Amino acid sequence: MLAEPKLKILNELVHQLSKEELIWVNGFLSGLVAEPIVATNTTIHKKFTIAYGTETGNAKKLATDFVAKAKKKGIPVKLVGLDQYKLADLSKEEYFITVISTQGDGEPPIAAQKFYDHIHLNGFKLPQLKYGVLALGDTAYPLFCKTGEDVDKQLAHLGGQRITHLQKCDLDYEETAHHWFDGIISQLNQQEIPAPKPIAPVPAKKPAGKVYYDAVVQTNINLTAEGSAKKIYHIELVAETVPFLPGDSIGIVPENDVLVVDEILAMHAIDGAKVINWKNENASIRDLFLHKINISYLLDKSVQHYASVAGYEIPAGKADLLSLLKKYPLKNGDQLLQVVEGLTQIVPRIYNIASSPTAHEGEIHITVLRDVFSKDEKEQTGLCTWFLENKKEGDTLRFFIQTNNRYRLPAPEKDIIMIGPGTGIAPFRSFVAERDATGASGRNWLFFSEEKFTTDFLYQTEWQSWFETDTLTDVSLYFKEGSTDVSGLPEKIIQKGNKLFEWLQNGAFLYLCGEKEPAGRLIEEALLKVFEQATGSETNAKAYFETLKKENRFAKDLY
Ligand SMILES: Cc1cc2nc3c(=O)[nH]c(=O)nc-3n(C[C@H](O)[C@H](O)[C@H](O)COP(=O)(O)O)c2cc1C
Repeated sequence: MLAEPKLKILNELVHQLSKEELIWVNGFLSGLVAEPIVATNTTIHKKFTIAYGTETGNAKKLATDFVAKAKKKGIPVKLVGLDQYKLADLSKEEYFITVISTQGDGEPPIAAQKFYDHIHLNGFKLPQLKYGVLALGDTAYPLFCKTGEDVDKQLAHLGGQRITHLQKCDLDYEETAHHWFDGIISQLNQQEIPAPKPIAPVPAKKPAGKVYYDAVVQTNINLTAEGSAKKIYHIELVAETVPFLPGDSIGIVPENDVLVVDEILAMHAIDGAKVINWKNENASIRDLFLHKINISYLLDKSVQHYASVAGYEIPAGKADLLSLLKKYPLKNGDQLLQVVEGLTQIVPRIYNIASSPTAHEGEIHITVLRDVFSKDEKEQTGLCTWFLENKKEGDTLRFFIQTNNRYRLPAPEKDIIMIGPGTGIAPFRSFVAERDATGASGRNWLFFSEEKFTTDFLYQTEWQSWFETDTLTDVSLYFKEGSTDVSGLPEKIIQKGNKLFEWLQNGAFLYLCGEKEPAGRLIEEALLKVFEQATGSETNAKAYFETLKKENRFAKDLY
């Protein structure tokens, strides 16, 4: 029964309504009290939502397939993009499946940023929520499926209950993802949704589905001059029909040294043509050793697997396969095959494209720092450095395009500010060459730093010529000239703060590229200082930075 005051209001309203309006209200009220039926053949009376966070469409496609599958099983479900999702609805959800990719440097897709920030506010609880997270990613990235991991963890932190484990998927996500979703459907179909029942996790599978291209190396030169402490290679590939945009990168899977591979096989009297199955792929062992299996700087888990096969105590740490074989010999070829089972794949190395599709038609250029480190008091280089520095004119190279839709030139009339210390300059050569070739009217400002002006100013003559022809409006340089201080470029940014802020207020787009530590971090701190000076407080500065990001006017690519 209604209390007197409410009854009065209802009577007043009812008396004002026409017959049609009364019929409508009747339906409306029945709808409010009826429990939604979610499955026709079960006793589930629950709200079921599938929400996707995507950048390039994979998560959306998968979520759409899931919805179609659920509907076929008689389970009505709501599909929604996280960009459209009403955050207030989260506390009303019961079954909530999130399909979300990781972008940038372990970041959420732009379209999912609001949702991601909202759940990390921590100011509320979601005790009613039963959820599952499917994370899309790429094992080539160090922060594999980071966003999915964060969302899964945070929903639990807010009091949500997992109905299934977090499933991380690599680029060939289809099979793994559907297997995971089938598990959820079968749980739902078993009505009343029993206590969460774990479904055996399917390990993320090796990258697949990428389009690989073979290109001929047309140039491989060292950009630094005599007297430089560094070698930085400029490599040009002939790549006639490869579609890409300024801001994209390429992925290169380096190959192992054929001499080392043949020595390993000969040590164990193994015929290189012998076909084995390794991580679901049948191929000759020599081919696998050359192109797929990582044999340099093995992960500690591979070293410990070696130790258990060979029966030695081997101290923790990274090591080459060949040095291990020499120091801790195996008994025979069978043991080598067992060792191989514990080895991991060679991971692709990603390089920003330094050329413009318009200015350097049919070519792809990259800028590669020779990364050197010392091991056992000897100077060593990384596998891909070694692989690339030995590439001569006429050699071929296999690569794939890594598109980066978060790193794009704005409309031609917009201004851009580019901060690229060291090899971070690469995408900006692509940007400015493209704007020059297409006659874009926006202004272009470059910040760059390196060791020495005389030896290490990368692509110096090109920047000079762009400056002389007004394509490059402004250039701010810092050279360490022997100092070990790394704060030079950040300080330069602070010095130029007023002008930089003016450009941004005028609608400029800001880009940062280069090494994450320490350069990238210090530059972001310097930018915050600039914003603080301009806006009057740290809080305003942070808000200003956030707005730039939300408007897609700040993009970073740090490694
Ligand atoms: C520029 C860029 C950055 C990426 N960064 C990561 C990353 O940090 N970690 C990861 O696991 N995957 C990363 N990926 C891979 C994507 O998550 C993967 O391609 C996914 O399938 C994309 O799904 P979507 O189309 O729904 O966005 C990145 C992809 C691109 C293009």
